[in-house]
Amino acid sequence: MLIVQNVTKNFGTFNALNNINLEFRNGVYGLLAPNGAGKTTLIKMLTTLLFPTSGSIIYNGKDIIKLDEEYREILGFLPQEFGYYKNYSPTAYLLYLAALKGIERQTAKTRVQELLKLVALENVADKKMKKFSGGMIQRVGIAQAMLNDPKILILDEPTAGLDPKERVRFRNLLTDLARERIVILSTHIVSDVESIANEIIMIKDQQILYQDTISRICEKLAGQVYETEVKYEEAAAFRKKYFSLSEKQESGMMYIRFLSEEPAQPEWRAVRPNLEDVFLHTYQDEVMLQG
Ligand SMILES: Nc1ncnc2c1ncn2[C@@H]1O[C@H](COP(=O)(O)OP(=O)(O)O)[C@@H](O)[C@H]1O
Ligand SMILES: [Mg+2]
Repeated sequence: MLIVQNVTKNFGTFNALNNINLEFRNGVYGLLAPNGAGKTTLIKMLTTLLFPTSGSIIYNGKDIIKLDEEYREILGFLPQEFGYYKNYSPTAYLLYLAALKGIERQTAKTRVQELLKLVALENVADKKMKKFSGGMIQRVGIAQAMLNDPKILILDEPTAGLDPKERVRFRNLLTDLARERIVILSTHIVSDVESIANEIIMIKDQQILYQDTISRICEKLAGQVYETEVKYEEAAAFRKKYFSLSEKQESGMMYIRFLSEEPAQPEWRAVRPNLEDVFLHTYQDEVMLQG
């Protein structure tokens, strides 16, 4: 079990994270927040690349900074900016990393083969990576994070740059990897985590807003999400009055999904809130700024 206890991180006078408390058991955790919220900062502390300004991170009762090498041995990490050698093949690259990690050559060979099969790269195992797609590179990145069969696997924005098909493939792969370990992945894209995460963590204003299951998080908006049709010309006025979550235009009408705390009008259909609704509602200011 991994516990984040009262962790604050400042960069000089800038407060990036304020008094964070989290608990991780085996399962998939989706760290979901817009850019700049502090996901990478938190992940760097979880991987001992940064130290908290105050507070501590405890793994099975011991501070991860004191555990040091012992902790890094059970950790697998895919950084947001993943550096690889274009002229290497996946096999050569993974064997090289395995050697750096002190994995014995014969064990490494078997492990690399298994992993390349797992991430479906066995057909290009000996091809240079320079012609690989973003999704293929990402799978090499996941394979390197899995070299030591980590008990804690941390992936920072692993789906950035993937096309929709690659995203689906990534989600399936992750479900396979998630057995009997802690998997933490960060993203600013709701659909990347809503089908695979056991729990979602949302950061807002430097603090943890939620760490909970998707259904419990969605309950926060219960009874406030509706759909209705308005005439195209009336859409702008409607949007001024209610917070629009999504819109679809069809034969002169606008189908609007929106949020209202007022009592429902007869023509509104109450719908079950989803994670995207909560995300848009939570980060309305930030998300609008990012366009
Ligand atoms: N080394 C640093 N020095 C100063 N500010 C930083 C540093 N790293 C991150 N920040 C700031 O901390 C905030 C959180 O950044 P980050 O953790 O990268 O967010 P995310 O990964 O969610 O996009 C941002 O405002 C960023 O500019
Ligand atoms: Mg980041």
